[in-house]
Formats: sequence, C-alpha cells, structure tokens
Amino acid sequence: MRRKLAAGNWKMNGLSASLVEVEKLLEYHPKPACEVLICPPATLIAQLAWRIKNKELAVGGQDCHWNASGAHTGDISAPMLVDAGASHVIIGHSERRADHGESDALVQAKCTAALAAGLTAVVCVGETEHQRDTGITLSVIGMQLAHSLPDDCTAARVVIAYEPVWAIGTGRTPTLAEIGEVHDFIRKTITTRFGAEGNGMRILYGGSVKPSNAAEIFAVSNVDGALVGGASLKASDFGAIIAALEAA
Ligand code: 13P
Repeated sequence: MRRKLAAGNWKMNGLSASLVEVEKLLEYHPKPACEVLICPPATLIAQLAWRIKNKELAVGGQDCHWNASGAHTGDISAPMLVDAGASHVIIGHSERRADHGESDALVQAKCTAALAAGLTAVVCVGETEHQRDTGITLSVIGMQLAHSLPDDCTAARVVIAYEPVWAIGTGRTPTLAEIGEVHDFIRKTITTRFGAEGNGMRILYGGSVKPSNAAEIFAVSNVDGALVGGASLKASDFGAIIAALEAA
C-alpha cells in the first residue's frame, strides 16, 4: 500500500507571518490519515521545522544544489536543507527547468545529491501545452523520467510529481482520463525500471488542484496525492484538499 501524500509548494511566497497558516492547518488536521508535506521558501524552513517539532507534518525545500558545499553563491545544498530541518526536497519543478534552464541531467544530479543527504526527493515531470497539442506528452514524460531519475531510486525516498506545465497556476486541468493515462504510464515506466520499488513510489498530480476538484482527481488510478501550489497557502484550502485525500 502506498501512503497518500499531500504536498504544498509555497514557491516564492510567504514571510514569517504566513506560518500562522500552518498552525491553523495543524489545528484542523492534528493527526492526518495521509502524509502532509509543506515546502516553504528556504528562508522559512528552519523556523517552520522548529515550530512543528513532534507534529505530523514534514518540511521540505523547493530545490537543492548538486554539490554538498562549495563556491556556489546563492545556492543551498541538500545537507543544508537537512540541517535546517527538512526531510524532503522538490527537484526539477518546471519553474526551475524554465527559469533556470535546468536539464534532465542536472535534475538527476540534484536528485542524487538529495538522496545522498538522506532527503526524500519529489521529482517533477510534465509536458508543455505545445507538447500536449502535438501528441507527444507520453514520450516527453518518458524521456524526463529516463534522464531525471538516478538508478538508486527507492519507494521510500523518491516521489514523482506529474505537473503539466500548462495546468500550473492557470485554473485549467487535464481531463481525468488524461491524468489517468499519464499516471498509468508513469507507473508502468518506473515499475519496468525499478521493479517493486517503482510500484511502491508515490505519483502525485500537480497543477491547479483545489478543494473543488481534489476528490475527483484523487479517485483516478495511480494518483497517490497532490503537489499543490496556490491552494496550499491557505489552511482552509489545503485542509480541504487533505480531507479529500484522507477520504479517497
Ligand atoms: P498550482 O497549484 O498553483 O497550479 O501550482 C502547482 C505547482 O506548481 C505545485 O508545484
């Protein structure tokens, strides 16, 4: 059985005062039936980790460098995330692939660094609108998986997030059939490569998940949870998504 995961990606949003939302969330969901992860901006990781000590909530980074230390001004390494209290890290989000030119090879190196530091890596894949329109979605996802994942991926330490680029922050989502097609394809691909470990890896859907569409998305085969952007910023919205996942 794969444990369901509700992950919030705050992106470049949130100041210290925003952590009140996490406290509210924990009031609503002190003992969630699924795993809950929040990835705030790096500036808030230590503070959040300290505040939620002994609570059923995990804290993650949104990116890490492929080296453990060195002359890389402005970057944060995987051991630094661990030191700040993070247990997870998002790798290869499409915003980083687009804004920072991150290639599959770089994503793979970052994933290796994350695993070496003891973090669980949430590795993102997803097609652009043009790629979907031209019918190459599955081959794009297949290439991203093949080249972004290192060989030592395990069910315990790697989570895949399918995030169609065109669905992020737009309010648009693929049809349930389209989500199911991609998630089934990802399951088949990672099981072929990693065997039982691939079968055990969680596959999250991300892109305009909100309280009103969460339940139907969570009912799709091989959807083991969600990676939520905008709707993770407010306790009431993220709480409703968690409740939908608990009920799925
Ligand atoms: P939205 O939920 O705001 O569409 O963002 C999804 C996302 O990119 C999560 O990583």
